[in-house]
Amino acid sequence: MSEAPLLQRLPGLAARRLLDFTLDGRPAQGFEGDTVLTAVLVHQARVRDSDAGASPRSGFCAIGACQDCWVDAADGSRFRACTTPLQAGMALLTTRRGP
Ligand code: FES
Repeated sequence: MSEAPLLQRLPGLAARRLLDFTLDGRPAQGFEGDTVLTAVLVHQARVRDSDAGASPRSGFCAIGACQDCWVDAADGSRFRACTTPLQAGMALLTTRRGP
């Protein structure tokens, strides 16, 4: 899938340690201190598919209140992307699997 990222990093920010993770099986990188939401949205425009249909969701409140950013991981866990710090090795799934 090719889709433009929703977020762009500002140039000139202090360098932070890079963290490797996967995004729907593709290698990706974020920075230590990123939320999962930020790390995903600098790569693509959606954090998940809607539970009620095929429409993409990308978070709304960014403070853990709206429930719009639930994201799945390959290990079966599910969490709010906006309040979860990115960790090295995360395997994030942002597209619906199966019917
Ligand atoms: S964006 Fe609202 S709970 Fe995460």
